[in-house]
Amino acid sequence: MKHEKIETNIGLMSLLVIVVVSFGGLVEIVPQFFDRQVIEPVKGLKPYTALQLEGRDIYIREGCHVCHTQMIRPLRAETERYGHYTVAGEQVYEHPFLWGSKRTGPDLARVGGRYSDDWQYAHLFNPRDVVPASNMPAFPWLFEAELDGKYTSKKMTVLKQLGVPYTAEEIAKAKAAVVGKTEAEALVAYLQVLGTVIKSRR
Ligand code: HEC
Repeated sequence: MKHEKIETNIGLMSLLVIVVVSFGGLVEIVPQFFDRQVIEPVKGLKPYTALQLEGRDIYIREGCHVCHTQMIRPLRAETERYGHYTVAGEQVYEHPFLWGSKRTGPDLARVGGRYSDDWQYAHLFNPRDVVPASNMPAFPWLFEAELDGKYTSKKMTVLKQLGVPYTAEEIAKAKAAVVGKTEAEALVAYLQVLGTVIKSRR
């Protein structure tokens, strides 16, 4: 029997399993590259400004994504708390994605506009000043370090190559837009825009 040959030959069996799984994978994955809902930005999505982009890099440097996700799942408990679930079209300019996988703190995908700038500064300087039971670390050094904008244009140029529609003018003015600003200012500028392209229900 042909089937017995496969079942008694682990090499052949492994090979065939790989063929089947690869085919299944291709059928699932390849269409995503062409699905407009996935590759086109949602209406109104703007690339990060130079300052927001620097803020995003500080977010990554400080490991905010280790405690905070940016991915609201389409489940009632999540949408009630955080707002509209995350859609692919909001994320097309994200390189790399910051979806995260662990929520020591709340999801931040739609935190933009939820609090005032002042609240965000106070919270970053010492979370306990505004949320007494918080176990989030304080980030006081962000208020002293200033941006020099040395690589801002370069970062935007690279992102442009990856499909983020920065104009030559935005890239040329990038350094001037960030130089002398504190890291806290950049980070808050970034936080305040998160998820705002789709109106949160909160
Ligand atoms: C060790 C884990 C941890 C790290 C690292 C961390 N956070 Fe948090 N964060 C928390 C926890 C826990 C809360 C909930 C308590 C609070 O509001 O302080 C929180 C709350 C927040 C909130 C309020 C969210 C809301 O909807 O109420 C913001 C904004 C925030 N964090 C931003 C940041 C930023 C920006 C960074 C990086 C500079 C960061 N966090 C790093 C744990 C963390």
